[in-house]
Order: sequence, then structure tokens, then C-alpha cells
Amino acid sequence: MNPFQYQSGELTAENLPLSTIAEQFGTPCYVYSRSALEHNLQAYEHALQGIPHLTCFAVKANSNLAVLDVLARKGAGFDIVSGGELQRVLRAGGDPRKVIFSGLGKTEAEIEQALNVDILCFNVESDPELDRINAVASRLGKRAPISLRVNPDVDAGTHPYISTGLKENKFGIDIAAAFTVYQRAAAMSHIDIVGVDCHIGSQLTTVAPYLDAVGRVLQLVDRLSDAGIKLEHFDIGGGLGVVYNKETPPEPSELINAVKEKIRGRDLTLIMEPGRSICANAGIFLTRVEFLKHTDHKHFAIVDGAMNDLLRPSLYGAWQEIVPVTQTDTAGASPDRPEFTYDVVGPVCESGDFLGKERVLRIAQGDLLAVRSAGAYGFVMSSNYNTRNRSAEIMVDGDRATVVRQRETIDYQLSLEQVLTD
Ligand code: LLP
Repeated sequence: MNPFQYQSGELTAENLPLSTIAEQFGTPCYVYSRSALEHNLQAYEHALQGIPHLTCFAVKANSNLAVLDVLARKGAGFDIVSGGELQRVLRAGGDPRKVIFSGLGKTEAEIEQALNVDILCFNVESDPELDRINAVASRLGKRAPISLRVNPDVDAGTHPYISTGLKENKFGIDIAAAFTVYQRAAAMSHIDIVGVDCHIGSQLTTVAPYLDAVGRVLQLVDRLSDAGIKLEHFDIGGGLGVVYNKETPPEPSELINAVKEKIRGRDLTLIMEPGRSICANAGIFLTRVEFLKHTDHKHFAIVDGAMNDLLRPSLYGAWQEIVPVTQTDTAGASPDRPEFTYDVVGPVCESGDFLGKERVLRIAQGDLLAVRSAGAYGFVMSSNYNTRNRSAEIMVDGDRATVVRQRETIDYQLSLEQVLTD
């Protein structure tokens, strides 16, 4: 489902023209579609029907309270990687009993916080982390539910920065060592073993690496079972890709049906941690052309959004489609908007500051542009570099828009700082 379609030549979010949003709330801003978020979650829930399951939205992909609220209302659980994300989930009305705590550097304070609200499970990524969780649980007089995140050593075939399931990655416990670590965990006083977890990477566009990983982890599950260690759930992580350009990722149902087939006959709850595939195409980044700059070598569209707002293009060389909000005449009868091949760049003082390169556009100063597929790893990765205020975030529901995060102000930014007093 694409909630950002042209209606009478105007790009809309659901039923609201993006130009209206820009007028009301200014640019740059992120715009999310409530129905697309719900629809994308539903694709998982629907495919998982018939087996015990839980869909835990990966909060890191988009942690806005309203996004979490929309998903929590539809029964989603959450995959978190920090105490801060846990606070967000609770604030948004999420159920702590559906929270999985991933991440490889959990602090004592974060573990305590999570134990105090009785989360579903800690995904443990190392031996010393296991010891720490046991110690904190013991101090609190609690038992900590854990699964080990195993590293199955499969190549997810994705960008090296977002590939996590290979031996050389920092994530997880080597699958060859996992049996011994489970045995240690089983002997610990304040640990309950509840599951196993793997996450092999992000923006995966084929099912094969998942099935490879699942097959390897199931061998471990069976070996543990033979040794009397029975697991309740298998968490296969997130990572399903989306269409940014010409990718052809599988639908959640294709992946899930194949996994269901593999785990059939075992009494395991299937947990998934999707982030991108729930929210990437439920959001766009809206920006306005400040200037057009034509040099002998290049044409630049200088826009009011920048790498501090949307980092993916600069950081990964990621390609995201950029379209004009008002459709221009493709037949060429648009003298005030001649066609050029533009680099769409922001005002930040770095050559690496671009939202897109070599885009054929017919635009004029003051036009609005939408960067598609920006609902995941967009706002969450933004910063105040160059003392730029972070963007507003807007949620659209039908023809109604709500500001779900206000645009920052300079006063807000400076409020944590002070000059020396002597
Ligand atoms: N579970 C774990 C343990 C993860 O590390 C991640 C993502 C997910 C779930 C969710 O993966 P997803 O379904 O969203 O692919 N900033 C990068 C992506 C980093 C992904 C980090 N881990 C990007 O913009 O492409």
C-alpha cells in the first residue's frame, strides 16, 4: 500500500495534499500515514495467524510516540535496544509483557528498569552480559527471562553496515559456542531460559538467508531439547527489505510461510522484529527548494532538508526516490521549469550532504519535494549538526494531520548548554 499518491496532480498523504501540510506546519518535516502503518503491521499479523506468535516492532526504526501508539493499539509488541526506547514504549501505552530487549551493551540501570516492568525477554549477546543480567536479577530478587542471540554465520547479502549475521560482526554469540552458554545459563540462579534469537541483517531482499539461518538455529534448538533445555520461542529478528528503487523483496507472508514450514512440529512461538518493513514506506520527508544553482559542471537543487535530517543517503549512499509535490508537465511544455539532472543537496557544510544525486527533475525555486520511503531510519537518525533544528513530524489519518513532534527551536537546543561563569 502506498499512501502517498498523486490526486489531480498533487501529491497527497492519504487524503491530504502535502502542500497543505507544508503551508500549515512548515518544512522540512516528516509525514507519516497511520493507515499504512496499520496495514503493514497487519501483513505480519495476518501471515502469522494459526501459530503462536508475536510481532515486535523494532523501535529503532521509528520511535515517535504516536507511531508506537498506533502499533500498540493494534496489538504489536516492541523490540527495544535501550532504556530510552523502553520509556517510549511505556509512554505510548505499549505492553511491557510484549517487549524484547535487544542490543549488545545493556547497562545495569537498563537491565534493572526492564526487570522492574517485567518485560518478555532479554536477547543476550555475550557471556558477560548474561552474568550481569543474572547479578541484577539476583539483587532485585527477580528471575530474568532470556534468550541468546546467536550468530548463525550466514551472509545476508546486504550493505556491510547493516549486515549482522556474519562471524566477523560484533553481534550475537557464535552459534558453535551457544550450546555451552545455554548450559551455563541453565545453571544460573536468577535466569529463566525462554527462547533463542537471531537477526542477520537489514534490507534483505530474498528469503534464502533467513531459511539458512533458521535451519542452523533449529539444529541448536533440537540439541538443547535433547539436553533438557526446552525453548518457548524462536525470534527470527527483523530485516525484511522494502522497495526503495527497483528491489523486489518478498512480502511478509512469503517469508513467514516458509519459516512456518521449517519450524512445523516444534512447539515454538514465532517472534519477529520488523522495523523498516512496517514504517519505511509509511513515511515521506517533505522539503522545499531554496535555490537552484547551475554551474558549468552540475545542476544543484539546494533544499531546506539536509543530511542532519535524513542521513541515509550520505551514510550509506542509500537511494530514495525524490518527487515533486506538484506534478509537472512531462511533455516539456513547462518553460518556467526546464528539465535538468540535479543533485538534491542540503545547506550543511559538507560535500557529503545530499538527499539524492543525478535526479531528473522539472522544478523551480520554492517548489516542494518529497523524499519517499523515509518513515524508517529517518527522523530517528537525525541530529542538530550545524545547529539545525530537527524537523517536525506529522501523522496523517484520512484528511486530518496531527503534529506528533514539534519542530525544535533554537531556545530548546541551547537550553541544555551554558557559558562559563568565570
Ligand atoms: N532486530 C535487531 C536486533 C536489529 O538490529 C534490527 C535493525 C531490527 C530488528 C530491525 O531491522 P529492520 O526490520 O528495520 O531491517 N540504519 C540502517 C538500518 C540499521 C538496522 C539496525 N538493526 C538503515 O537506515 O538502513
